[in-house]
Amino acid sequence: MIIERATADDLDVLLAFRQEAASWLTALGTDQWQRPYPADKLLSTIEAGVVFMVRDGSVTAATITLTPEAEDGLWNDQELQEESRFVNKLTVARTHAGQDLGGRLLDWAGDQAYRSGAQWLRLDAWTTNTPLQGYYLRHGFEYVRTVTEGGAVNGGPRVSGWLAQRRAVPGTAHGFTDLVGSGTRLGDA
Ligand SMILES: CC(C)(COP(=O)(O)OP(=O)(O)OC[C@H]1O[C@@H](n2cnc3c(N)ncnc32)[C@H](O)[C@@H]1OP(=O)(O)O)[C@@H](O)C(=O)NCCC(=O)NCCS
Repeated sequence: MIIERATADDLDVLLAFRQEAASWLTALGTDQWQRPYPADKLLSTIEAGVVFMVRDGSVTAATITLTPEAEDGLWNDQELQEESRFVNKLTVARTHAGQDLGGRLLDWAGDQAYRSGAQWLRLDAWTTNTPLQGYYLRHGFEYVRTVTEGGAVNGGPRVSGWLAQRRAVPGTAHGFTDLVGSGTRLGDA
């Protein structure tokens, strides 16, 4: 499998991924990702060069967004002074579930973060989704805190405020053929 930077041509596949995930998440009984992600916002992150695609032959198997930009209102001043990369929208296609592909992508992200000079790989997960939080804890993340206020809808409850972090460490055990190259370009594109 290879990993490469997304292009505007990937927009439809990324929107379909999100929809696929929303459907099976509903079946699990969580309200995570039920609001469609705005296509224009997604396109701007693609254009910023921070969206990455895992391809298995001609099939897209997974995606991750890895950015130096912290979401507003989540991390405190001291944390923001520490160089970090933030994981967003990690998604694995159901055709590729159950193989720890997400774990491999997190390892790839940690390696990219390390090579960019970051100390931390950080994320915010769905506030009410304990099984998802357990997934990250099993993958070596430590819980930081839950931010409950300042959501996107009129500053109401924050749906994705469970904060966690893991040290950024080098490594190639993810096993992807990496077409992204050095982490130093991250966020610069
Ligand atoms: C999280 C994710 C990328 C992990 O991919 P992966 O390493 O290939 O792992 P799997 O998809 O096999 O999932 C591992 C387990 O976590 C569970 N899980 C994953 N995401 C979950 C979620 N959002 N809510 C509840 N459970 C979830 C799966 O049901 C599975 O449980 P099981 O072991 O009992 O079958 C993938 O499950 C996914 O795309 N989830 C939906 C989108 C998502 O929540 N992304 C994270 C945003 S912060």
